[in-house]
Amino acid sequence: MLEALAAYYPQIKDVHVGAVTASGVLFLARGIGVQAGARWAMLKPVRITSYVIDTILLIAAGLLTAILQQYPFVDGWLTAKVLWLLVYIGLGTFALKRGRTPRTRRTCFVAALAVYAFIVSIAIAHDPRGVLSWWGA
Ligand code: HEM
Repeated sequence: MLEALAAYYPQIKDVHVGAVTASGVLFLARGIGVQAGARWAMLKPVRITSYVIDTILLIAAGLLTAILQQYPFVDGWLTAKVLWLLVYIGLGTFALKRGRTPRTRRTCFVAALAVYAFIVSIAIAHDPRGVLSWWGA
């Protein structure tokens, strides 16, 4: 079963990276929408689209880890990804919904985007230090 799936590793990775991109672009657009007071950003179809994209992202991620046999809480870079993902989700909910003031929502939005970029750098570096590892940190 896993061996059969392994043949599709490049395609599954494309799905993962495609979903990562779609998720980031949608979050960026919704965050800007919320900042501008636009109603569409929190409408049900938009929220559902976001859940669907993130579910695809995580299913593909799970398949990749199974094929690579590298797992969160075993391999440092994947542990870091999961932990930073939780931070990203937390900041994201404050940026879009839970932040009480526009200032809190704005701060959380910018911080969430920074965390997103950092997760991408962890993925590319295969290193929990992400972009910091490129400078030998
Ligand atoms: C916690 C859930 C996640 C897991 C378990 C996971 C796992 C993986 C795995 C196993 C790969 C394949 C690495 C390779 O073949 O070189 C990968 C690639 C990638 N992931 Fe994730 N991922 C997760 C979430 C995310 C998130 C939230 C982002 C972005 C914010 C992201 C961005 C990327 C990128 C950009 C790549 C491609 C890296 C490259 O081409 O070098 N991942 N991920």
